[in-house]
Amino acid sequence: MFSKGTLFIAQQCPRYVKFSSASKPKTAILMLNMGGPQHIDQVHDYLHRIMTDRDVIQFPFAQNVIGEWIAKRRTPEVQKKYQDIGGGSPILKWTRLQGDLLCKKLDKEHPETAPHKPYVGFRYASPFTEEALEELKKDGVERAIVFSQYPQYSCATTGSSLNVVYKYFRDNGFPDGLKLSIIDRWSVNPLLAQCFAHLIRKELALLPDDVRKEAIILFSAHSLPLKAVNRGDSYPSEVGCTVQLVMWDLQYCNPYQLVFQSKVGPLPWLGPFTDESVKSYAKQGKKAILVVPIAFVNEHIETLHELDIELIEDAKKAGIEIIRRVPAPNDHPLFIEALVDLVKHHLRSKLPVSPKLINRCPHCDSPRCIESKQWFAQNCKL
Ligand code: FES
Repeated sequence: MFSKGTLFIAQQCPRYVKFSSASKPKTAILMLNMGGPQHIDQVHDYLHRIMTDRDVIQFPFAQNVIGEWIAKRRTPEVQKKYQDIGGGSPILKWTRLQGDLLCKKLDKEHPETAPHKPYVGFRYASPFTEEALEELKKDGVERAIVFSQYPQYSCATTGSSLNVVYKYFRDNGFPDGLKLSIIDRWSVNPLLAQCFAHLIRKELALLPDDVRKEAIILFSAHSLPLKAVNRGDSYPSEVGCTVQLVMWDLQYCNPYQLVFQSKVGPLPWLGPFTDESVKSYAKQGKKAILVVPIAFVNEHIETLHELDIELIEDAKKAGIEIIRRVPAPNDHPLFIEALVDLVKHHLRSKLPVSPKLINRCPHCDSPRCIESKQWFAQNCKL
């Protein structure tokens, strides 16, 4: 709010008004994602936060003790991986860029809610979601859109981040008059599918003529413990939707398969696994594979190390002659258009929160989910 003195200057000087309104954001776009360590000395804390997050993994007892034990044990190996990709995760760089490009376009294409300001809220690394919410509160925005950067919803990813949003407002108070709404899933956004299809076409064109038609398009997504799948997590079906839309756009030009990567620990996870599938395809006599990180919107350790280094090495050893990886969407213009399209659509919709988000998985017994979903149902407003 303007003070009396400020209001007087503003009335006398239109240029002051222009500067003042442009500097104060009206609409916050909170970009939620998991984040990643910026330096290798942050790896331990990052792993510790993941392993002690009960929305991701539930140990039968002593979550903090077992989580810390695993984090400590895995730190050197994971540090080495970050070292191999340049010493840190690029996820912050990409998310900031995506947020800036999104808000610049929104200011032009949706001036009614401008100025828009992006806030990055990571779950396991700085800048944390709580820090972003603190900043957003200080800025005194009128409206906040919580925008999950996981296109396909999972209780272990978007759900976990939303539980943090709920907890922050519960413990720190909810600003009077703030209009809060959520974009929780967008696996079927046509521009997202077009972006992936465009990136795939580009890579297919680089393959030698004699293998182009037979190359297997291998859509690789992060896996999930089978326990979560059987609880009713919608992630597998949502990833499947994105795959089908992309293949529809490509007119089913090649053989394709959805596979899952990054399994951790001895418990059963959702398969088939990316590395094992590549080896099996090699045994079947397949020669060319194009890997598509279908559930990652920017590069990070799972693409730059697990796919680009480990998988390619395994594939070559197994006898695959050609294997290429399609880049993540990053700052691709079609991807930025997808983000703009989603927010514009959301701003015009009458749904501050989707009924699907308010509904729990059929076998969910998490007190965090019960509380947060009730809270979002009551407090999300347009
Ligand atoms: Fe899915 Fe709680 S685990 S809603």
